[in-house]
Amino acid sequence: MKRVAIITSSDSGYRGEREDLSGPTIREIVEANGYEVVSMQILPDDRTMLAEAMKKIADENQAELILTTGGTGFSPRDCTPEATEDVIERRVPGIPEAMRAYSMQFTKRAMLTRAAAGIRKTTLIVNLPGSPKAVRECLEYIIDSLAHGIDILTGEASNCARK
Ligand code: MTE
Repeated sequence: MKRVAIITSSDSGYRGEREDLSGPTIREIVEANGYEVVSMQILPDDRTMLAEAMKKIADENQAELILTTGGTGFSPRDCTPEATEDVIERRVPGIPEAMRAYSMQFTKRAMLTRAAAGIRKTTLIVNLPGSPKAVRECLEYIIDSLAHGIDILTGEASNCARK
C-alpha cells in the first residue's frame, strides 16, 4: 500500500483560528484510492518549517507521496512552492502544468496557483492549492497518474508499457 503524508500550510490553521478542511479532503480522496495516510500536519506559511517537514518525511522514508495544500498563491506569506523547491532533487513540472490546464475549466484563477512538484529520494512531493474545492478538482484529476509515477520511482514498475 502506498503511503501518503499530508501537510496543510496555513497561518490561521496553525494558530487554531480556522478549521482545516483541505487536509481532510485530501485524506478522503487518497483513502478512496487505496493510500495509507501516515501523517497529517498543519504548519504555518513558513518556508523553513515546511521544507524541514518535507525533508524529514522523505529522508526517513515515511511516505512515497507528500501532498501539501495551501500557500501556493500570491499572498506575501505564500511560500509552499519555494519550500518544495528547497528540498526536491528533481523537478516534475508536468503535474502542476496538468492541474492548471485542467482547472481552467472551473476558474480562470487556476492560473494563479504557483504549485510545484518534484522528487526527493523515493518520495514524490506535490503542491495543491488551498481550498477544499481546488484540492478536489486537482487531486481527483492527477491521482491515477501519480500511482504509476510512484511505482516507477520505487521500482515497483520498470517501464510504462500498459498491461
Ligand atoms: N484550482 C482549482 N482547480 N480550483 C480553484 O478553485 N483556485 C485558484 C487557484 N487554483 C482554484 C485553483 C485560486 S483563486 C488561487 S488564489 C490559487 O489557486 C492559489 O491558492 P492557494 O494560495 O490557496 O494555494
